[in-house]
Amino acid sequence: MSSATNKESILILDFGSQYTQLIARRIRELGVFSEIRPYNFPLEQIKTLAPRGLILSGGPASVYAATAPRISLAIFELNIPVLGICYGLQLIVHLFGGQVARAPHREYGHANLIISHPDQIFKDVSPQTRVWMSHGDRVEQLPEPFESIAGTANSPFAVIHHQQLPIYGLQFHPEVIHTEQGQTILKNFIYEVCHCQGNWSPQSFIEHTVATIRARCGQQKAICALSGGVDSSVAALLVHRAIGQNLTCVFVDNGLLRMGEPEQVRKMFDENFHINFRAVPAATRFLSRLKNVFDPEQKRKIIGEEFIRIFEEQARQLGDIKLLVQGTLYPDVIESVSVNGPSATIKTHHNVGGLPERMHLDLIEPLRELFKDEVRRVGAELGLSPEIMGRHPFPGPGLAIRILGEVTPERLAILRQADQIYINELKQSGYYHPVWQALAVLLPVQSVGVMGDERTYESVIALRAVTSQDGMTADWARLPTELLARISNRIINEVNGVNRVVYDISSKPPSTIEWE
Ligand code: XMP
Repeated sequence: MSSATNKESILILDFGSQYTQLIARRIRELGVFSEIRPYNFPLEQIKTLAPRGLILSGGPASVYAATAPRISLAIFELNIPVLGICYGLQLIVHLFGGQVARAPHREYGHANLIISHPDQIFKDVSPQTRVWMSHGDRVEQLPEPFESIAGTANSPFAVIHHQQLPIYGLQFHPEVIHTEQGQTILKNFIYEVCHCQGNWSPQSFIEHTVATIRARCGQQKAICALSGGVDSSVAALLVHRAIGQNLTCVFVDNGLLRMGEPEQVRKMFDENFHINFRAVPAATRFLSRLKNVFDPEQKRKIIGEEFIRIFEEQARQLGDIKLLVQGTLYPDVIESVSVNGPSATIKTHHNVGGLPERMHLDLIEPLRELFKDEVRRVGAELGLSPEIMGRHPFPGPGLAIRILGEVTPERLAILRQADQIYINELKQSGYYHPVWQALAVLLPVQSVGVMGDERTYESVIALRAVTSQDGMTADWARLPTELLARISNRIINEVNGVNRVVYDISSKPPSTIEWE
């Protein structure tokens, strides 16, 4: 799915800010497609993409440092409006010959922005408004012909504007919710300055994507890696809409699924869709390859590799199929690719990271440009049932990355039972849907307990539940203590081999959602 075919887009050049993905989301919420590229994305490719506007993200570097990430001044000659945010603003100032230096105090938190010059970027923005600052450097001197059009007590150059060209800079972060009118400012940039039309919607995405898939596949057949989760179900429906019976969905039972899951997925697909469907039982194959493997990255690699080999076999059996459909999402793509540090890779991620280098299938990833909540909106538009749409995300490597240490049939059985009790209790108490994702983790330690008069050394189950919008950031869910007490009691009483349950109260970042 080449983004070059999206006529209207905003391109975000990433200088490594933790908020870069948030900028992309905010722009899409405003109805305009946006995508992120590393700061050193070649000029020629920017020209080919022909975005309506460019945003330079924030980042941890100092523009005056020798190793600071920079861009060419030629970018400003493309006649594309530019908005620099935080580091982006400082870079603009630096490149045009102004001065940026370390501020006497690092400015972090709320500030009161006072608008000094009316401008289209401030349409519907109050003369004074709260903004969120997070910077250690600040502009000391503006280059010609920039002017400051708003300031705060600590940053007299909080919003700057080139007097002839559509180039703006914001010292604060409009993308975070703490900036009260940040969304209005971004809206003004994309509609008043970049003159976007705002034609990005689930409906337009479906039409565009179905047409692109049809053109790409022609008469060729494809198989879809279907897990029964939201992403792969939406991907399957999109491709099915494009190529109909030329698509076969393949569901691999890798032995790392939750209790009853293979049966549920088959039932769901058989009852709801008229799509070719195949289930492949492969538990023994995966488990034997995972024997004596302790390292999470190694587990991901093995599972990714084994998946692909199975799809290759299936593709051959089904008649020389060359195309594999996967439900890869945008955050997987961003988190899997790191260029010189920006948006750094934390773990080789997801569908993408786990794939072997040598693969005899070409990938079709129709959701590669979407965030999770956008996939849900597309799914709803495609008529997927709330039951499927509301399912919590479940990682490709399954329970293998929720069993810390070695994956064995015995440990899988323990985790499956604990997970089922946990998820059922959440559903029954009405907490399943408000929570973005919930999971049980089997820890690799034995802890002491007492049962009757005996001391026991048994396993520990950690429960995690998070609230989130897209999984990129997350907070631990404040579940009622009575509910946690009931779940803990049930797990300890009903699951043999567990004598302790703990609840994870860490947010992401700095923690992650999964434990491996
Ligand atoms: P983390 O743990 O990175 O997870 O905060 C963010 C989201 O991604 C899921 N996740 C994975 N999904 N393969 C996947 O398909 C993986 O290896 C993987 N690791 C994490 C996680 O469940 C959460 O929804």
